[in-house]
Amino acid sequence: MIELKNVSFRYSDSNHGVTNINLTIESGECVVLTGKSGCGKTTITRLVNGLAPKYYKGTKTGSIRIAGKDIEIMPSYDIGRAVGSIFQDPQRQFFSSELEGEIAFGCENYGFSKFDIQKRTKDAIHRMGLESIGNISLDLLSSGEKQRTAVASVYAMYPQVFVFDEPTANLDKNGIIQMKNILVELKKSGYTLLIAEHRISWIGELADRYLYMEDGQIQRQYSPSEFSAMNNCERISKGLRCIADIPFSKLIAPSQTDSIAIQGEKISLKKNKKQILKNVDIFANEKSITAITGSNGTGKTSLALILSGLEKLKEGSIYLHGENVGHRKLSNNIYYCSNDTGTQFFTESISKELLLGTEYGVENLEMTKNLLKNMHLYDYKDSHPASLSGGQKQRLAVCCALLSSKNILILDEPTSGLDAENMFLIAKALKNAAKKGKTILVITHDEEFMNACCEYRINIDKI
Ligand SMILES: Nc1ncnc2c1ncn2[C@@H]1O[C@H](COP(=O)(O)OP(=O)(O)OP(=O)(O)O)[C@@H](O)[C@H]1O
Ligand SMILES: [Mg+2]
Repeated sequence: MIELKNVSFRYSDSNHGVTNINLTIESGECVVLTGKSGCGKTTITRLVNGLAPKYYKGTKTGSIRIAGKDIEIMPSYDIGRAVGSIFQDPQRQFFSSELEGEIAFGCENYGFSKFDIQKRTKDAIHRMGLESIGNISLDLLSSGEKQRTAVASVYAMYPQVFVFDEPTANLDKNGIIQMKNILVELKKSGYTLLIAEHRISWIGELADRYLYMEDGQIQRQYSPSEFSAMNNCERISKGLRCIADIPFSKLIAPSQTDSIAIQGEKISLKKNKKQILKNVDIFANEKSITAITGSNGTGKTSLALILSGLEKLKEGSIYLHGENVGHRKLSNNIYYCSNDTGTQFFTESISKELLLGTEYGVENLEMTKNLLKNMHLYDYKDSHPASLSGGQKQRLAVCCALLSSKNILILDEPTSGLDAENMFLIAKALKNAAKKGKTILVITHDEEFMNACCEYRINIDKI
């Protein structure tokens, strides 16, 4: 179904990419690409779905065949029929504002008959278990529902191959179980699946093969039994996440001390008549790292935006070091690091991005340099932020937060698409920053990360 022969690709904007990839995937197989951030997983998915070099410009050598056809001579619309892609952030691939319109959109573009469009749309909604959603705005869906909507819109095209890039990065436990069930069903129906993923513990028996990548090359292939038998030493040296189930962190809620840095009291929020937050109480002690957890859709990001003064507080109170404050003072004192790393960079190079808003002093330059080195980003210091891989963007976003002069940091899912090695680097950097005086709140689903650096956990479910 998929055949890459001696394929190399270099992005025009950087000298990075993949080298000498030889990969044959049979029809109906499920293959998982894994490896450290920046090793080339996403680039392989882009070669298979034709986005590289048709959209992501660069130099490609070697040959790629999909169902026996040379991708080079296939027009984009034919590649799109054969290979359906689901990106890490499903919202980015939506064209419509409601479910049926979104699923029908692709079919309309292919000029299917009205009868066929209706049949495919209904079938896709049923297969992805989305019947209860109705016609509410896609903006209001939880991350899991958005992810399933994206799969449904691709499924309606009945492609032969599904390509997933980090399908569970933004999902909670239930979302992951639902996504896995869908993938198991797709596999049973004979579809070919190619998945780039760091969080591998949920995949289990779904995968037929695991490919471990390093520096743009496929280093090794594992059968599922070889993969699950990998000892911890090897796994950690390869920067891989836990393969078996991850131990649930036993963190508890903080207890109040004399040095509460930030406190929110009875915070409520309604959006489009939907009650998103109701009477949420939350606080963080100075120099601590507190995890904010909760299922998809419980309003963690909305709470973070209110606490950091980016969204106006309508109901409740917020105190900074005991003083009741409004959104201006909050935004002056609290740094919010979004989980949407695609839209939060402003300049044309990593170095400029990091020095934005800080004083250009020798000490700062030295600190910036060290941070870049520690985060394995120094080689990219002159690169454009948009040209980074998903995990590199996440690390850059965390570096920007750590270099800010603000003392309270709220980080939204900073490790969602990261391999173990880089996740531990972030954990260490946050611990250092807390020791030096920062108060850190992290919104996260990542139990491995919580175990690595958080001291407390506040769960905002069932409020
Ligand atoms: N659009 C782009 N332009 C230029 N260089 C890019 C682009 N996208 C990725 N790269 C570079 O190509 C290399 C491989 O990136 P890729 O996105 O394939 O990695 P990845 O394994 O998916 O990483 P992650 O786990 O962080 O998502 C990286 O060095 C990255 O900086
Ligand atoms: Mg990637």
